[in-house]
This record gives sequence, C-alpha cells and structure tokens, in this order.
Amino acid sequence: MKAMRLIDIDGPSLDVIETIVERAVALSKGSEPLAQTHTIANVFFEPSTRTRVSFEMAATRLGLRVINLDGERSSMTKGESVLDTLATLHAMGVELAVLRHGHTGICHELSEQLPPSLGLINAGDGCGHHPTQALLDAATLTAKGVRLSEAKVVICGDLRHSRVARSNVALLKRLGVGEIGLAGPEALMPAPGSGFDGLRHYDNLDAALIDADVVMMLRVQKERMDESDGGLDLADYHLHWGLTTERLAKAKPECWVMHPGPMNRGVELSAQVADGPQSLILDQVRMSVFTRMAIFEALLS
Ligand code: NCD
Repeated sequence: MKAMRLIDIDGPSLDVIETIVERAVALSKGSEPLAQTHTIANVFFEPSTRTRVSFEMAATRLGLRVINLDGERSSMTKGESVLDTLATLHAMGVELAVLRHGHTGICHELSEQLPPSLGLINAGDGCGHHPTQALLDAATLTAKGVRLSEAKVVICGDLRHSRVARSNVALLKRLGVGEIGLAGPEALMPAPGSGFDGLRHYDNLDAALIDADVVMMLRVQKERMDESDGGLDLADYHLHWGLTTERLAKAKPECWVMHPGPMNRGVELSAQVADGPQSLILDQVRMSVFTRMAIFEALLS
C-alpha cells in the first residue's frame, strides 16, 4: 500500500489542508484524538527544540509508538545515506518518518526512492519547505478568529533562507489570503522563481505594516549565510527591520505578531513585543502539538 506523505504545501488537496487546520483547532478545544497503533520515527539531522518535541508530544498523545533518532548519533556518521537509514528503520517496523535535514530538496528526492509503504513528513529541509509549520500557523490564526480571506499578512526578515516563509506563502495563497506583503533587507530577499513571485515587496517595515492584520517575523539564519550575503550587523538589522512597539503601532491595533522560533530577542523583535498582548508566539507552540496530531491522523488513518 502506498503511504501518505507531506513534503510541501502543494502536495495535499485543499480539502485535506482544510481538514487538518480545522481538526487542529478542534483538538485544541478538547476534541478526542483518534487513537493510533502505528510506529513513527523522528529523524532529525538539524538542531530543533519545538518541532522535534512537538512531533513527539503529538505522537504520544495519539498513542503512537515513537522512535527518536538523533542524526548526529546515527550510522550516518559512518557513511550511511539517509535513504538507507530510513529504509533500515522501515524494515524494523517504522511506518512513517518525520525528517528534518539541512539539504534543500531532500524530501522530494527521497520521496522518489523510498519504499512506497513508508510515510514521510518533511519537518524542514534546508532552505526548502516546512509545511507543518505553515499549517500550525494557519491553525493558530484560525483559532484566533482571523478571517484569512480579508487579512493582510506581512512576512518580514530573512526570506531568502526561510523554508517557513516559503511554506507559509504557499499555504496562505491556497487558503485565499487577502494580501501578502514581504519586507526585509535587499540582500535577504528571495531569489526570483523560488516561490515568492508576484508578491509586493516593501523596502521598509513601517510601510509594510500599514493596515496589517498579521506580521510574521523570521529568524536571521546566520548558519545558512555564506560570504556572498555580506557581514550582517545584528544591531543595525534590529534598527531597520526589528519589530518594536513603536513600529507595531503602524499596523492595525489588533494586528497579531508571529515568529516560528527560535527567536532572537532584540534582533527580529523587541522583548516587549515578543511578550506583549499581540504576540502569538507561544500560541503557535501550543498549536504545534494539536496540528501535528491532526497531521498524523490525516496521514495514518
Ligand atoms: C524554523 C525552522 O527550523 O525552520 N523553526 C521552527 O521549525 N519552528 C525557523 C528557524 O529556524 O528560524
């Protein structure tokens, strides 16, 4: 039997996407989870706190058996490929792998090569895609009553390296969002043809924030920058692109602030904004468990 996969936002039907978002919200309001008897593996080759732990919590709440494999401590260090590692886990009974890896496009590549009966969830591939983050962001906004079709969403920061932004743009478009605005320094703008075409780009955050209902701040991904990105001065970055209380006042009074984490206080946003009444940062983390439960239910049932 062919297993279900979630590699990017364009894969599932709109029906499946809407079911996941609605189910995540229902689970967050106390709906009973559908008990599961499958075995899944979290296979993480990049550092992660919230994504890895929330996948584990989600699986545990559904009654799934969970194997956690830390890529840095696996046979990969002896030269085994990711494909062979996943095929090995599958031979032992793992039915679905949740994979995070630094190589952009690895989940698409593996999807062609893996045993068809092994399910796969992309938990972030390099600068590629992060579909489960986009789904949990949509669920967080839906739970807050945001009507996406009428909303202006601003995504600000290091768009060039952001799988979170790429998946969010794809999902917001599919859900028929009112408007998406991009903001950030020119050097960190996405390359043409990389999923962001046709969107308005603001060259300053104050202008982008006018009439915004939601602002998603992105982490400056220093680990993915090379010399061509130029040295980035973080204090200067905060001065121009950091979200402060004064800047946030340019948006609609009820504008929500999001950040996928991990956040750098004083760089992408001030501590006051991060901890302020408009911040959804911990709501996103809470919703991440329910959304990943809904994703497991959709893929495994
Ligand atoms: C993001 C990631 O790893 O892609 N974080 C997350 O999954 N919550 C964003 C980031 O690392 O900046």
